[in-house]
Amino acid sequence: MNNKYGVNALFDAVQNKNLDIAGVDKKFYTKLALNAGEIRDLYTQLYAGHPGYEENFIKLIEVLISTHLERSQDLKNRDNAKDENWYLSNDLAGMSLYVDLFHDNLAKMPEKLDYLLDLGVNFLHLMPVFESPANESDGGYAVSNFRKVDKRFGSIADLKKVREKMHEKDMSIMLDIVLNHTSRQHEWAEKARSGNKEYQDYFYFFDDRTVPDQYEQNMPEIFPESSPGNFTWIEECQKWVMTVFHQYQWDLNYTNPKVLVEMLDNVLFYANLGVDVLRIDAPAFLWKQIGTNCQNLPQAHIILQLIKQCVQVAAPGMALLGEAIVAPAAIMKYFGEGRYQGRECDFAYNATQMALQWDALATGQVSVMLSAQPVLAEKPFGTTWITYTRCHDDIGLGYDDYMIESAGYNSYEHRKYLKEYFSGSFPGSPATGALFSVNPKTQDARISGTLASLCGLEKAIKENNQGNITLSIQKIILMQANSFFLGGLPMLFYGDEAGYTNDYSYLNDPGKSYDNRWMHRPVIDWDKNEKTKSAGTIENRVYEATKKLLTIRKKLTVVADYKNTKWLTRQNIHVAGFVRNGNGKNLYCIFNYSQDSAYLTWYAFKQNGFIPTKLYDHWREEYFQVGHDENYLVLDPYAFYLFETVE
Ligand code: GLC
Repeated sequence: MNNKYGVNALFDAVQNKNLDIAGVDKKFYTKLALNAGEIRDLYTQLYAGHPGYEENFIKLIEVLISTHLERSQDLKNRDNAKDENWYLSNDLAGMSLYVDLFHDNLAKMPEKLDYLLDLGVNFLHLMPVFESPANESDGGYAVSNFRKVDKRFGSIADLKKVREKMHEKDMSIMLDIVLNHTSRQHEWAEKARSGNKEYQDYFYFFDDRTVPDQYEQNMPEIFPESSPGNFTWIEECQKWVMTVFHQYQWDLNYTNPKVLVEMLDNVLFYANLGVDVLRIDAPAFLWKQIGTNCQNLPQAHIILQLIKQCVQVAAPGMALLGEAIVAPAAIMKYFGEGRYQGRECDFAYNATQMALQWDALATGQVSVMLSAQPVLAEKPFGTTWITYTRCHDDIGLGYDDYMIESAGYNSYEHRKYLKEYFSGSFPGSPATGALFSVNPKTQDARISGTLASLCGLEKAIKENNQGNITLSIQKIILMQANSFFLGGLPMLFYGDEAGYTNDYSYLNDPGKSYDNRWMHRPVIDWDKNEKTKSAGTIENRVYEATKKLLTIRKKLTVVADYKNTKWLTRQNIHVAGFVRNGNGKNLYCIFNYSQDSAYLTWYAFKQNGFIPTKLYDHWREEYFQVGHDENYLVLDPYAFYLFETVE
């Protein structure tokens, strides 16, 4: 520790918690003492001068000590067994799912682990399972108790059993911490509403509109249709409270160190449940400042860095995913900058690439996708992406205008086209989706819909058009292949492995009908999933292809994310490709986004410091001779190749 108070705080905390620093806890204490100075510095950047500065810092250290003392020996062994960069492995493949919509509840969940393992999924993101009021839950992202599993899903004992079963089967688990806000029914919010000043300071409360109006000048709206504005009037205490997301989600006030320490305690509570990756929900919003858009502020990064250093000390086996769905350059900062490069979030979502694949699919051209890659390539070594095509959220077209413009398009018209294409209003569009959160002031909108429906399967089935069914399955697999081989942990969304189209049953539920993201959060029908086993069914065709891709991925260590992805220069406007290399192996991944056949000069394979003569395509299980530069590889519509160089 680098100052008098620091030494005292550490000393007080050790005494208060009876840490045996000369005996069993010596190793932990050494690590704590080594890192406490850095933790203190980060904390000081946020709270210097705050009246609760010293008291809360002692509590913070106590939280780290308690986490260590309460961490089970099994989890400590698991921490030790994990390689430092375990999460970069090509062996991992994930799926996000809602426990209740997938298979009723946590107690029944273990019954389906073998289904997932058969597919090749060995990592599960269980969507929020902590207590959340039924009709205002935002899919579990409005938490009323961070430590109690909602009775819809079961109990904390059930959750622990699922985790144990998963670990036994060599699977990893991801849960969420909803760090930015609580439900208005959380105990802290209830107390604040009833006039308790201490708890009002856990949130952003204002007596009148003066300050809220100042904030509003620069704050965008997240759900402009269902929850316009960023503040909500609270009748009981006659005050305004900040509610960036829904009106029932109250933003926590991280200028108060008590809030930080309480939430860190929750983070580490999840660590001690055995979580392997913690998904930090909406970290971009953690700090607010008048005059800014209140997103991605430097203090939000300091909070994440602080959490990361604390987790490293007390639960080093748990990696962090920052769910920042922000512009490409802003996203890179969540991996840490300067001395914190690679020491903030271990994972971020590659939302840019995800959206750009949809862009390529709708336009049949890959130029915009390619123009974004230089920024994305700046990701530091040792960090990685979640790569995906769909998740529980909408698709935002949040990449930069210059990327669109450098491809020769007008950015406004281009986005308009994409929105019309995917919502199905563009003449001839095969997609069935919907616009989400249309902002009447800016015309901004995002897109809802399942992978299959956006790829045209819903329409093709309705029209009983076998050719289009086949084409849409080909698109589904193209999208998945691009995402699985890019570098990062592929995260499937449940249902997509069996070709689920939009589920409109949410419209009958008043707790969901206002939010069309529920159309792509299907209720799983296990009779339908059973069809994945009957050759020739749509479910089977999608499932088998997905499974095959995951099998190939697991065989090829070159797919692990060691910053070994190099995009190929564009030779054909419809075809994107990259080469993954390492250990003397090269894997060319080539994707045709066109509805027509495309020609790719063999020269494309000869620009990377080696000239292959023979390639093995893992997808077709066939060898290919590399031709002369004036000859072409001919790709079928929406075809892709996974070429390993052989000679
Ligand atoms: C994240 C979640 C999203 C939720 C929001 C507010 O973006 O993914 O579903 O609505 O946070 O918690």
